[in-house]
Amino acid sequence: MTGGGSGPVGDRRVEPFAARLHIIPRVIIKPLQTALVRVFRRYFEQAPGWVLLTTSGRRTGLPREVLLPCERWAEGMLVISTYGNRADWMRNMRRNPRVLVTCAGWAVAAQAEIVEDLDAKRALVDAHPFFAPAPFALINFLHRTLLRPLTCAFLRWWVNNRPVVVIRPQRAAAPSDATTALQNGRASVTAQRAALLRAAHQMLDHPPILDDPLALRLIDPAGAEALRSGTARLQTPALQALRVSIALRSRYAEDRLAAAFDRGVRQYVVLGAGLDTFAYRNPHPDALRVYEVDHPATQAWKRAQLAEAGIALPPSLTFVPLDFETETLDAALRASGFRNDQPAFFSWLGVTMYLSREAVMQTLGLIAATCAPGSEIVFSYVVSPSQFAEHAALVGEPWRTFFDPPALQADVRRLGFREIEDLGPEEANARYCAQRADGLRVGGSGHLLAARL
Ligand SMILES: C[S@@+](CC[C@H](N)C(=O)[O-])C[C@H]1O[C@@H](n2cnc3c(N)ncnc32)[C@H](O)[C@@H]1O
Repeated sequence: MTGGGSGPVGDRRVEPFAARLHIIPRVIIKPLQTALVRVFRRYFEQAPGWVLLTTSGRRTGLPREVLLPCERWAEGMLVISTYGNRADWMRNMRRNPRVLVTCAGWAVAAQAEIVEDLDAKRALVDAHPFFAPAPFALINFLHRTLLRPLTCAFLRWWVNNRPVVVIRPQRAAAPSDATTALQNGRASVTAQRAALLRAAHQMLDHPPILDDPLALRLIDPAGAEALRSGTARLQTPALQALRVSIALRSRYAEDRLAAAFDRGVRQYVVLGAGLDTFAYRNPHPDALRVYEVDHPATQAWKRAQLAEAGIALPPSLTFVPLDFETETLDAALRASGFRNDQPAFFSWLGVTMYLSREAVMQTLGLIAATCAPGSEIVFSYVVSPSQFAEHAALVGEPWRTFFDPPALQADVRRLGFREIEDLGPEEANARYCAQRADGLRVGGSGHLLAARL
């Protein structure tokens, strides 16, 4: 987007006089910034319209944090440097354009690009004129209608003497068409995050909702190091609620799987398995076959992680690489030894939002049409986007599909499923969190749906 308008990084510039005009002196703004960062970390990490940027100190190389207003969009963020090139973070960034952006509780490695060409800067602020994002719908509306020309005119003037910085998460190499990171052959980062939160759940939440002793072994060394070096940043209310929902969805699926096993079901298919560990702590290794179905890129990465962690592949496990968007589940499963004439239990956790509606419905339809009576599925879905959708988009895995619970239940019934149970956050909390002394609860709009054939 910035194309030829990007400025070189690393050279010293002479500041135009206008960029030296500050309303608030720097001796005041610096301690204010530090205090703001603390408040942001504690309470507002999910706040839209702001970014916590970590640069490397140009002399010390140590991390330096600054809280900045920004415009976010799917591929990155746009920041205008109020203090021009004199701002410390700008100077740090000129020395080292590799930065971290903290968004919804996660620090994401990113590359900063300083734009100095005036036409390029103006084009950028015209396209992203710093509108207040939701939830202030009325302000959004006013901005987008009445205030847009004024805001654009002001910003076009404002950037005359100020650099504009485009910050792009490095792992979000998704091109501007709708190609996702997985389609580009990269393993799922959201799977890594879910695993990190399951591991954090084992360390931080007592008693755990999901007892998963392998979770800590399976996360990558950087994630393990982050957990060892401090978990305070995982204790924001939003991240607590997220990790509870990730643990709870697996617990719910495994509870229902145990009941299905008691009924005689002997095949378990983990759809979009990510770093799920059930197959490696299977309580019935001689009786229950486990099929892990996942995108080939994620599955190859998981196998490397397993080898690195020294976790043996049990003979009861079969890997089934599959892209839900382009391949059909029944053919891939059959080719892997799955028995259509015997009932199976399926889980599909934290996946449907990343797929097209067609792929979700087609997969459910195939299970309904080809699996034996007595088969069951538990899957999670979301009703509306959350702040974590923004982060997922930043790493190239946008949320694409949302469901209305009554309409989805009707569709699932029409496909041939029965005994449908739909757990929204309230029901999930009542079932799994009511007795907790630590007050942990799931939040957001995630649902769990169980249905049988
Ligand atoms: C957020 S992770 C959830 C992983 C795991 N179920 C869990 O609960 O930790 C999303 C998973 O969906 C998989 N996925 C996303 N799009 C996919 C596709 N088109 N085909 C196959 N798998 C896909 C990813 O590879 C990843 O493992």
